[in-house]
Amino acid sequence: MAILQIAGLTKCFGGLTAVNDVSFSVEEGEILGIIGPNGAGKTTLFSLISSFLKPTSGDVIYLGESIVGVPPHVLVQRGLVRSFQIVQTFADMDVLDVVTTAALSRRPMLEAEDYAGDVIRRVGLGGKERLTPTSLSLQDKKLLEVAKCVATEPRLILLDEVMAGLTLAETEAPLAVIRELNRQGVTVVMVEHVMPVIMRAATRIVVINFGEKIAEDTPATIVEDQRVIDAYFGELVDA
Ligand SMILES: Nc1ncnc2c1ncn2[C@@H]1O[C@H](COP(=O)(O)OP(=O)(O)OP(=O)(O)O)[C@@H](O)[C@H]1O
Ligand SMILES: [Mg+2]
Repeated sequence: MAILQIAGLTKCFGGLTAVNDVSFSVEEGEILGIIGPNGAGKTTLFSLISSFLKPTSGDVIYLGESIVGVPPHVLVQRGLVRSFQIVQTFADMDVLDVVTTAALSRRPMLEAEDYAGDVIRRVGLGGKERLTPTSLSLQDKKLLEVAKCVATEPRLILLDEVMAGLTLAETEAPLAVIRELNRQGVTVVMVEHVMPVIMRAATRIVVINFGEKIAEDTPATIVEDQRVIDAYFGELVDA
C-alpha cells in the first residue's frame, strides 16, 4: 500500500519554481532515497509534504487522505515527521529536554522523559543526556535530530541530509539507527548527498533536478542513467 502519494506538486517562490509538477509514491515499509544537486528543491519538497509550506498546486496524500493545509503538529500526531537540514535547538535545553519535548507530542509528561531516555540510548547518544546540543559534535547533532524525530513515534519519517558533513565511517551509526527503525516498520524517505550511503540504504531512488523529477528507479539503475549522471554526478566531478 502507498503510505504517501505526491501528485503534481508545485511550489513557486515569486518567479522561481522550486518544485515543478513532481509526482511519486512511497510504499509502506520502504526506504526511498531522494537525491539531486544543491538547490534542486529537495528540502522544499519535504517542507511541502510536512505542511511547513503550502503547495502552489498539486496534492499530498498520506494514508489515503489529502493532508494539504493540515498543520505540521497534527501530522506528527498522525505519524508523519520531518527532520531539519539545519539542526534546530534551543539554547537553554539539554539533550534530554529536547528529546522529551518531542516525545510529549504523543505521551504524557511522566512517560515522555523515560521514553526520551530510551530513544537517546537507541540512537547512540547514551551518557550525553545533560549536555547542551550546541556542545555536541556535528555527528551527535545529527543523531539528536534523528532522536527528535524517533521520539514522536513516526510511521513515516522524512530525513533531510542527516549524514551531510560526516565521514563515511561516521555515517555507520545513523545508518544503523535508520535501518533498525525501518525493520520495526517505519517508512523512511531520506534526502542524502553521501552517495555510497544512499546507494546502500535505499530500496528506490528519486532524482530531482531544477525542481523536476528526472528519474525514479533502483540504485543500480540510477547510477547508469545518463540524465542523472549529467545532472548530478557531473556536478560532483566538476566540484
Ligand atoms: N523560502 C524560500 N523563498 C524563496 N526561495 C526559496 C525558499 N526556499 C528555497 N528557495 C529556493 O528554492 C530552490 C530550492 O531550494 P531547496 O532548499 O529546496 O533545495 P535543496 O535541493 O534542498 O538544496 P540543498 O541540497 O542545498 O539542501 C533554491 O533555488 C532556493 O534558493
Ligand atoms: Mg536541502
